[in-house]
Amino acid sequence: MRIDILTLFPDIISSYLKESIIKRAIEKGLVEINIINIRDFSPFKSGQVDDTPYGGGSGMVLMCEPVFKAIDSVKTDNSKVIMMTPTGEKYNQSKAIDLTHEKHIILLCGHYEGFDERIKTKVDMEISIGDYVLTGGELASLVITDSVVRLLEGVITETSLDSESFTDGLLDYPVYTKPRVYEGLEVPEVLLSGNHKKIDEYRMNERIRITKEKRPDILK
Ligand SMILES: C[S@@+](CC[C@H](N)C(=O)[O-])C[C@H]1O[C@@H](n2cnc3c(N)ncnc32)[C@H](O)[C@@H]1O
Repeated sequence: MRIDILTLFPDIISSYLKESIIKRAIEKGLVEINIINIRDFSPFKSGQVDDTPYGGGSGMVLMCEPVFKAIDSVKTDNSKVIMMTPTGEKYNQSKAIDLTHEKHIILLCGHYEGFDERIKTKVDMEISIGDYVLTGGELASLVITDSVVRLLEGVITETSLDSESFTDGLLDYPVYTKPRVYEGLEVPEVLLSGNHKKIDEYRMNERIRITKEKRPDILK
Protein backbone atom coordinates (compact mmCIF):
# COMPACT_ATOMS: atom_id res chain seq x y z
CA MET A 1 0.00 0.00 0.00
CA ARG A 2 1.05 3.56 -0.62
CA ILE A 3 -0.11 6.49 1.52
CA ASP A 4 0.53 10.11 0.56
CA ILE A 5 -0.13 12.73 3.23
CA LEU A 6 -0.70 16.29 1.96
CA THR A 7 0.01 18.80 4.69
CA LEU A 8 1.33 22.26 5.53
CA PHE A 9 3.24 20.84 8.51
CA PRO A 10 5.39 17.91 7.28
CA ASP A 11 7.43 17.70 10.51
CA ILE A 12 4.38 16.75 12.57
CA ILE A 13 3.89 13.74 10.30
CA SER A 14 7.54 12.72 9.84
CA SER A 15 8.27 12.50 13.56
CA TYR A 16 5.47 9.96 14.03
CA LEU A 17 6.64 7.78 11.14
CA LYS A 18 10.09 7.38 12.69
CA GLU A 19 8.93 5.29 15.65
CA SER A 20 7.74 1.80 16.56
CA ILE A 21 5.45 -0.37 14.42
CA ILE A 22 4.88 2.13 11.59
CA LYS A 23 8.62 2.68 11.24
CA ARG A 24 9.21 -1.09 10.98
CA ALA A 25 6.37 -1.51 8.46
CA ILE A 26 8.01 1.13 6.25
CA GLU A 27 11.45 -0.47 6.63
CA LYS A 28 10.04 -3.90 5.73
CA GLY A 29 8.47 -2.39 2.59
CA LEU A 30 4.92 -3.29 3.71
CA VAL A 31 3.81 0.30 3.20
CA GLU A 32 5.25 3.36 1.45
CA ILE A 33 4.38 6.67 3.08
CA ASN A 34 5.17 10.02 1.43
CA ILE A 35 4.70 13.48 2.88
CA ILE A 36 3.82 16.23 0.41
CA ASN A 37 4.04 19.87 1.44
CA ILE A 38 1.03 21.74 0.03
CA ARG A 39 3.04 24.97 0.24
CA ASP A 40 5.32 23.70 -2.55
CA PHE A 41 2.33 24.18 -4.90
CA SER A 42 1.61 27.80 -3.97
CA PRO A 43 1.35 30.07 -7.04
CA PHE A 44 3.00 32.86 -5.02
CA LYS A 45 6.70 33.45 -4.33
CA SER A 46 5.76 34.02 -0.69
CA GLY A 47 4.35 30.49 -0.46
CA GLN A 48 0.89 31.77 0.47
CA VAL A 49 -1.72 29.01 0.45
CA ASP A 50 -4.70 30.63 2.17
CA ASP A 51 -6.83 33.76 1.96
CA THR A 52 -9.74 35.48 3.67
CA PRO A 53 -13.26 34.04 3.21
CA TYR A 54 -15.66 35.54 0.67
CA GLY A 55 -18.65 36.99 2.51
CA GLY A 56 -16.53 37.92 5.50
CA GLY A 57 -15.94 36.11 8.75
CA SER A 58 -12.92 35.12 10.73
CA GLY A 59 -10.01 32.85 9.84
CA MET A 60 -8.17 31.95 6.68
CA VAL A 61 -9.33 29.49 4.04
CA LEU A 62 -7.08 27.07 2.12
CA MET A 63 -7.12 28.05 -1.55
CA CYS A 64 -8.02 25.75 -4.44
CA GLU A 65 -4.89 26.08 -6.56
CA PRO A 66 -2.18 24.71 -4.24
CA VAL A 67 -4.44 21.92 -3.00
CA PHE A 68 -5.67 20.91 -6.50
CA LYS A 69 -2.06 20.85 -7.73
CA ALA A 70 -0.78 18.92 -4.70
CA ILE A 71 -3.47 16.26 -5.24
CA ASP A 72 -2.78 16.07 -8.99
CA SER A 73 0.95 15.60 -8.33
CA VAL A 74 0.32 12.20 -6.69
CA LYS A 75 -3.10 11.02 -7.88
CA THR A 76 -3.37 7.97 -10.15
CA ASP A 77 -6.31 5.83 -11.34
CA ASN A 78 -5.96 3.70 -8.18
CA SER A 79 -5.98 6.57 -5.68
CA LYS A 80 -8.59 7.24 -3.02
CA VAL A 81 -8.46 10.89 -1.97
CA ILE A 82 -9.64 11.43 1.61
CA MET A 83 -10.21 14.86 3.13
CA MET A 84 -9.71 15.29 6.90
CA THR A 85 -12.65 17.35 8.11
CA PRO A 86 -14.87 17.49 11.21
CA THR A 87 -17.88 17.53 8.88
CA GLY A 88 -16.99 14.14 7.34
CA GLU A 89 -18.21 10.59 8.04
CA LYS A 90 -17.15 9.46 11.50
CA TYR A 91 -14.11 7.15 11.45
CA ASN A 92 -14.15 3.71 13.08
CA GLN A 93 -12.46 0.29 12.93
CA SER A 94 -14.68 -0.98 10.13
CA LYS A 95 -13.65 1.99 7.95
CA ALA A 96 -9.99 1.22 8.80
CA ILE A 97 -10.53 -2.39 7.65
CA ASP A 98 -12.16 -1.17 4.39
CA LEU A 99 -9.19 1.11 3.69
CA THR A 100 -6.71 -1.81 3.94
CA HIS A 101 -8.09 -2.94 0.54
CA GLU A 102 -6.99 0.29 -1.17
CA LYS A 103 -3.77 0.41 -3.19
CA HIS A 104 -3.16 4.12 -2.73
CA ILE A 105 -4.62 6.52 -0.19
CA ILE A 106 -4.14 10.29 -0.33
CA LEU A 107 -4.85 12.01 3.01
CA LEU A 108 -5.55 15.71 2.77
CA CYS A 109 -4.89 17.75 5.93
CA GLY A 110 -6.58 21.12 6.35
CA HIS A 111 -5.65 23.98 8.65
CA TYR A 112 -6.95 27.37 9.76
CA GLU A 113 -10.67 27.77 8.95
CA GLY A 114 -10.63 24.78 6.59
CA PHE A 115 -10.81 24.19 2.83
CA ASP A 116 -12.36 26.21 0.02
CA GLU A 117 -15.57 24.20 -0.55
CA ARG A 118 -14.64 23.58 -4.22
CA ILE A 119 -11.75 21.35 -3.10
CA LYS A 120 -14.38 18.74 -2.24
CA THR A 121 -14.85 18.10 -5.97
CA LYS A 122 -11.37 16.51 -5.92
CA VAL A 123 -11.99 14.09 -3.04
CA ASP A 124 -13.60 10.64 -2.84
CA MET A 125 -14.37 10.65 0.85
CA GLU A 126 -14.49 13.05 3.82
CA ILE A 127 -13.52 11.67 7.22
CA SER A 128 -13.87 13.04 10.73
CA ILE A 129 -12.02 11.28 13.56
CA GLY A 130 -14.57 12.45 16.14
CA ASP A 131 -16.96 15.15 17.26
CA TYR A 132 -14.39 17.77 18.23
CA VAL A 133 -12.35 20.35 16.31
CA LEU A 134 -8.58 20.02 15.95
CA THR A 135 -6.18 22.76 14.86
CA GLY A 136 -5.28 20.83 11.73
CA GLY A 137 -5.76 17.54 9.90
CA GLU A 138 -2.31 16.15 10.74
CA LEU A 139 -3.38 14.19 13.82
CA ALA A 140 -6.42 12.91 11.94
CA SER A 141 -4.28 11.71 9.03
CA LEU A 142 -1.95 9.95 11.47
CA VAL A 143 -4.91 8.28 13.19
CA ILE A 144 -5.98 6.88 9.83
CA THR A 145 -2.45 5.93 8.78
CA ASP A 146 -1.72 4.15 12.06
CA SER A 147 -5.03 2.29 12.28
CA VAL A 148 -4.78 1.08 8.66
CA VAL A 149 -1.07 0.20 8.55
CA ARG A 150 -1.21 -2.01 11.68
CA LEU A 151 -3.89 -4.10 9.93
CA LEU A 152 -1.79 -4.75 6.81
CA GLU A 153 -0.51 -8.30 6.40
CA GLY A 154 2.87 -8.84 8.08
CA VAL A 155 2.85 -5.65 10.15
CA ILE A 156 1.86 -7.25 13.47
CA THR A 157 1.28 -10.87 14.47
CA GLU A 158 -2.17 -11.77 13.19
CA THR A 159 -3.27 -13.49 16.43
CA SER A 160 -2.82 -10.12 18.20
CA LEU A 161 -5.69 -8.83 16.05
CA ASP A 162 -8.07 -11.73 16.83
CA SER A 163 -9.81 -10.35 19.90
CA GLU A 164 -9.04 -6.68 19.40
CA SER A 165 -11.68 -4.18 20.44
CA PHE A 166 -14.27 -3.33 17.74
CA THR A 167 -13.32 -6.18 15.36
CA ASP A 168 -16.24 -8.46 16.26
CA GLY A 169 -18.64 -6.26 18.22
CA LEU A 170 -16.81 -6.75 21.52
CA LEU A 171 -14.10 -4.91 23.44
CA ASP A 172 -10.83 -6.74 24.23
CA TYR A 173 -10.29 -8.79 27.41
CA PRO A 174 -8.09 -7.51 30.27
CA VAL A 175 -4.41 -8.55 30.31
CA TYR A 176 -1.86 -8.93 33.12
CA THR A 177 1.91 -9.45 33.31
CA LYS A 178 4.52 -10.18 36.00
CA PRO A 179 4.65 -9.97 38.95
CA ARG A 180 1.81 -12.24 40.08
CA VAL A 181 1.01 -9.95 43.03
CA TYR A 182 1.75 -6.20 43.08
CA GLU A 183 0.87 -4.12 46.13
CA GLY A 184 -1.68 -6.78 47.10
CA LEU A 185 -3.28 -6.74 43.61
CA GLU A 186 -3.49 -10.29 42.26
CA VAL A 187 -3.64 -11.74 38.77
CA PRO A 188 -6.88 -13.79 38.32
CA GLU A 189 -6.18 -17.43 39.29
CA VAL A 190 -7.53 -18.86 36.02
CA LEU A 191 -4.74 -17.18 34.01
CA LEU A 192 -2.14 -19.10 36.04
CA SER A 193 -3.94 -22.45 35.70
CA GLY A 194 -2.44 -23.51 32.37
CA ASN A 195 -5.93 -24.69 31.34
CA HIS A 196 -6.38 -23.00 27.96
CA LYS A 197 -10.02 -23.96 27.55
CA LYS A 198 -10.84 -22.29 30.85
CA ILE A 199 -8.68 -19.28 29.98
CA ASP A 200 -10.50 -18.86 26.65
CA GLU A 201 -13.87 -19.08 28.41
CA TYR A 202 -12.81 -16.56 31.05
CA ARG A 203 -11.56 -14.12 28.40
CA MET A 204 -14.73 -14.38 26.32
CA ASN A 205 -16.89 -13.82 29.41
CA GLU A 206 -14.79 -10.81 30.34
CA ARG A 207 -15.14 -9.38 26.82
CA ILE A 208 -18.92 -9.66 27.03
CA ARG A 209 -19.06 -8.25 30.58
CA ILE A 210 -16.82 -5.26 29.76
CA THR A 211 -18.64 -4.48 26.50
CA LYS A 212 -22.05 -4.60 28.23
CA GLU A 213 -20.71 -2.31 30.94
CA LYS A 214 -18.76 0.21 28.84
CA ARG A 215 -20.07 0.05 25.27
CA PRO A 216 -23.49 -1.62 25.09
CA ASP A 217 -24.01 0.26 21.81
CA ILE A 218 -21.49 -1.96 19.93
CA LEU A 219 -22.63 -5.31 21.37
CA LYS A 220 -23.85 -7.64 18.59
C1 LIG B 1 -9.81 24.31 12.76
S1 LIG B 1 -10.25 23.00 11.67
C2 LIG B 1 -11.55 23.71 10.72
C3 LIG B 1 -12.85 23.53 11.38
C4 LIG B 1 -14.03 24.00 10.55
N1 LIG B 1 -14.07 25.43 10.46
C5 LIG B 1 -15.32 23.49 11.21
O1 LIG B 1 -15.78 24.13 12.17
O2 LIG B 1 -15.84 22.45 10.77
C6 LIG B 1 -8.90 22.93 10.59
C7 LIG B 1 -8.65 21.56 9.95
O3 LIG B 1 -8.40 20.60 10.94
C8 LIG B 1 -8.82 19.32 10.51
N2 LIG B 1 -9.74 18.77 11.52
C9 LIG B 1 -10.20 19.40 12.62
N3 LIG B 1 -10.99 18.61 13.34
C10 LIG B 1 -11.05 17.42 12.70
C11 LIG B 1 -11.72 16.19 12.95
N4 LIG B 1 -12.51 16.03 13.99
N5 LIG B 1 -11.53 15.18 12.07
C12 LIG B 1 -10.75 15.34 10.98
N6 LIG B 1 -10.08 16.49 10.69
C13 LIG B 1 -10.23 17.51 11.53
C14 LIG B 1 -9.47 19.51 9.14
O4 LIG B 1 -8.52 19.16 8.14
C15 LIG B 1 -9.77 20.99 9.15
O5 LIG B 1 -9.79 21.53 7.84
